Amino acid sequence: MERFITESADMTEAVGEKLGARLEAGDIVVVRGALGVGKTTFIRGAVKGTGCKDRVFSPSFTIINEYAHNIPIYHIDLYRISSQNELVEAGVFEYLFSDGIVFVEWGDKFPNLLPDKRIDVFIERINSGKRVIKVTPLKMH
Ligand SMILES: Nc1ncnc2c1ncn2[C@@H]1O[C@H](COP(=O)(O)OP(=O)(O)OP(=O)(O)O)[C@@H](O)[C@H]1O
Ligand SMILES: [Mg+2]
Repeated sequence: MERFITESADMTEAVGEKLGARLEAGDIVVVRGALGVGKTTFIRGAVKGTGCKDRVFSPSFTIINEYAHNIPIYHIDLYRISSQNELVEAGVFEYLFSDGIVFVEWGDKFPNLLPDKRIDVFIERINSGKRVIKVTPLKMH
């Protein structure tokens, strides 16, 4: 497990960027943490780290954003999904088992449905500007 303390959104983006540079096709990154803690901010950095130039925004309403890159990048937000049926309807599984890089916000709402082989990022608020970020690679390769 790697642990980082950040003192601004920019620092969180930079931590994300380092992880993003190490990602490969098929990787799934589940980003957990309370409302407004910095999940999208972290993913913005990680997408940048892959080399993708697209603008990263919160998929709260769209559920899934796709960013253009040499490897497809999917950014999924399960905040508004309340049942397994909705999850299927949104096509989430097709993305989870694709060969793109997948980021999932609020994945802990459906812990049993996510692949075991994933990278787990947990962000906790220390105070208004300070966060602790724990990155655990659960994948076995
Ligand atoms: N150290 C920090 N790291 C990340 N964000 C920070 C930090 N300090 C302050 N912030 C602020 O916290 C907010 C994080 O917003 P962001 O949309 O990334 O959170 P989120 O976890 O994705 O929210 P949601 O739960 O709505 O999806 C931003 O306004 C950002 O400026
Ligand atoms: Mg978000």
